[in-house]
Amino acid sequence: MRIGVLTSGGDCPGLNAVIRSVVHRAVVDHGDEVIGFHDGWKGLLEADYRKLDLDAVNGILARGGTILGSSRVQPAHLVGGVERAKGHVADLGLDAIIPIGGEGTLKAANLLSQGGLPIVGVPKTIDNDISSTDVTFGFDTAVTVATEALDRLKTTAESHQRVLVVEVMGRHTGWIALHSGMAAGAHAIVVPERPFDMDELTARVGERFEAGKRFAIVVVAEGAKPREGTMEFRSGGKDEYGHERFTGVANQLSVELERRLGKEARPVILGHVQRGGTPTAYDRVLATRFGWHAVEAAHRGEFGMLTALRGTEITMVPLARAVESLKTVPADRYAEAECVL
Ligand code: F6P
Repeated sequence: MRIGVLTSGGDCPGLNAVIRSVVHRAVVDHGDEVIGFHDGWKGLLEADYRKLDLDAVNGILARGGTILGSSRVQPAHLVGGVERAKGHVADLGLDAIIPIGGEGTLKAANLLSQGGLPIVGVPKTIDNDISSTDVTFGFDTAVTVATEALDRLKTTAESHQRVLVVEVMGRHTGWIALHSGMAAGAHAIVVPERPFDMDELTARVGERFEAGKRFAIVVVAEGAKPREGTMEFRSGGKDEYGHERFTGVANQLSVELERRLGKEARPVILGHVQRGGTPTAYDRVLATRFGWHAVEAAHRGEFGMLTALRGTEITMVPLARAVESLKTVPADRYAEAECVL
C-alpha cells in the first residue's frame, strides 16, 4: 500500500508522534510506503512531498510542532482543488491519505472524501472541541502548560495585590480554560459557551478582596464574550479564513475590572506557548494510538472515517458526523468547576 500523510491547520503537540506511528505501523508491520506532504493540504494540491522512512521519523516522538509543516487553507481553494488533488493522488499511486487536523482540516477532509479520495482522518487540536472523540491529543499538553503558568502567576499576583486576567486559547470552546482553571484553583473561569455577566464577575472578584484575600486569578478563553449590555466590548471581525479576529478579551476585561474595583489588574495572554514544545506522555500515547489505528483502517479500506477515542478504546467514526458540530463545555461540567472557584 502507498500512504500519504499530512498535518494541517494550527500545529499541536503530538503531531510528530502520529507521523512516527503511521510510518512504523505501515512500513515495518505492513511493508507499505509512506510519503509526507509538506505544509498541509497545500502539499497535496501542489504535489510537494517527501518519502517518510524510519530514518525520517527517528527521534521525533517528543518533538513539538510537525516535521511536515502545516498551513491553513481557505475552504474556497479546496473546493476548486478536489480534481487537482485527485490527479496527484492517482499520479503518485496513493491508496490512502491520512490528514491530521482540527475542525477546518476535517471539514476539508470530508469534502475531499466525498469527492472520492481515500481518506482516513486523525483529529488533533489543543482546543479539545472535536465532538466525535472524547479527547484530542495536544489538549493535555496545553492544559499542563496553562496550569503551570497559572500556578506561577499566583505568587506575583499576591505580592502586588493584583487581579490577573489570564487569557488561554479556545476559539469556540472553553475546555482549556475550564481544565487549567480547575487544576490551578482559579477564582473565576470565563468560557465562550457562557457569555459572562460583567456585574456578576466584578462582584465575585470584589468579594474575594472584601474577604481579606490579596489577589484574584481570572482565567478567560480567548473566544469569550460578555452578556450583551453588561459591558462595552470591541469585536475584531473575521479574518480571511472566516475565523473571528480576537481583540484581546483579557485586555478589555482587566481594564474594566480595574475601573470597577479600584484594584490593579493586568492581562496575561499565554497565546502560542500553549501549542509549542514537547507533548505530555498522555498526548504522545494518544497520538501514537491514533496513528496505528489510522493505518489499520486504511488497510481495511475504511475510508471517509476518523479515528476517535471513546472511553479507553480507539474507534472509527464517519468524517461526515465528526464535522457536524463542536464539542462545547456542557453546563454541568461548568457547575463542577464553579463550585470550587
Ligand atoms: O485551533 C487551535 C488554536 O490554537 C485556537 O485555540 C486558536 O484560536 C487558534 O488555533 C490560533 O490560530 P493561529 O495560530 O492561526 O493564530
